[in-house]
Amino acid sequence: MTTELQTSLSDVRRRFDADAESAADEQALESVRVTYLGRNGEVTKVRRTIGTLPAAARPEAGRTINDAVASMEQRLEELRRRLEERGVESELNATIDVTFAAIEPQLGAIHPVRRIVNDSCAYFARHGFAVVVGPEAEPDYYNFDALNIPADHPARENFDSFWITDGVLLRPHTSPMQIRTMQQHRPPIAVVAPGKCFRRDALDARHLFQFHQVEGLLVAENIHFGHLKGMLTGLCRELFGAEQRVRFRPSYFPFTEPSAEVDTTCPKCRGKAASCAMCGGSGWIELGGAGMVHPNVLREVGYDPGVYSGWAFGFGAERLGLARYEVDDIRRFVESEPGFLQQLS
Ligand code: DAH
Repeated sequence: MTTELQTSLSDVRRRFDADAESAADEQALESVRVTYLGRNGEVTKVRRTIGTLPAAARPEAGRTINDAVASMEQRLEELRRRLEERGVESELNATIDVTFAAIEPQLGAIHPVRRIVNDSCAYFARHGFAVVVGPEAEPDYYNFDALNIPADHPARENFDSFWITDGVLLRPHTSPMQIRTMQQHRPPIAVVAPGKCFRRDALDARHLFQFHQVEGLLVAENIHFGHLKGMLTGLCRELFGAEQRVRFRPSYFPFTEPSAEVDTTCPKCRGKAASCAMCGGSGWIELGGAGMVHPNVLREVGYDPGVYSGWAFGFGAERLGLARYEVDDIRRFVESEPGFLQQLS
């Protein structure tokens, strides 16, 4: 009688195998499971016949059926996994060519001019300077009058400015921050003031009408020109390398006396190549102006020039960028050309 049960069980198993094998998707496989292993399924029907067996044969019959169920469940799991893999594979084949070359993600980076400004500020901050920022639109008092450039002073012509209203302009330099800082604090003062500047200049390889400056100011007792030379030489070495030299050419600014224009050795030819395109063969790159703060400026903010002295400088950040990155045209910094920015990042 056990044989009868075994025969029906193998019959169920044969049909189960065929149906399961031909199930085309997981849903079809599930209905095979219900048909054979469900509460009223084929196997249950066989299990019900156990009651007709002699008591002694029942345990073994039960074990046989349980083994068959376990084996069928295992088979279902194998087939389910196979269907799943095939599904993923065909989906991939339909939508993604995994042999296609990947597109590199475009990552953003700090703009080279921003990096120059950051690195310059970090250098001064390391030497105890505070970083200060101020307005881009300024009354002419801060831009000119307080800097020893009264209304009729010819030096105003050097700052061809964008006027917003009568008496208010977009600052053509960051030097107004010297006045704002000194009015708010008593000496000793050590600040660096980075920021945007605006001038009605025609665009060319060396000029932008909107650019950045890094301004510096130190006022205390017994400050002399040697301190200025030391700090600016240190800045150039920080930005361009340990070999860098700095040159001060006599110049004129109303707000400093004496005044100088500051050059650094051309980082491309190191001052050696007569045919260097970077520096035009001079061996030097011009960075900006500097000098000892004029007594009239100190008096304007209520400092006693008999007690205090100071130095100041203003460098063009894009000029520093030309030298640092060996760029031949300043306009490249504002063209937002991804290849150019990527190369410098
Ligand atoms: N403000 C000047 C300019 O933009 C540069 C300058 C010269 C700044 C001398 C200074 C300075 O602080 O002392 O042309």
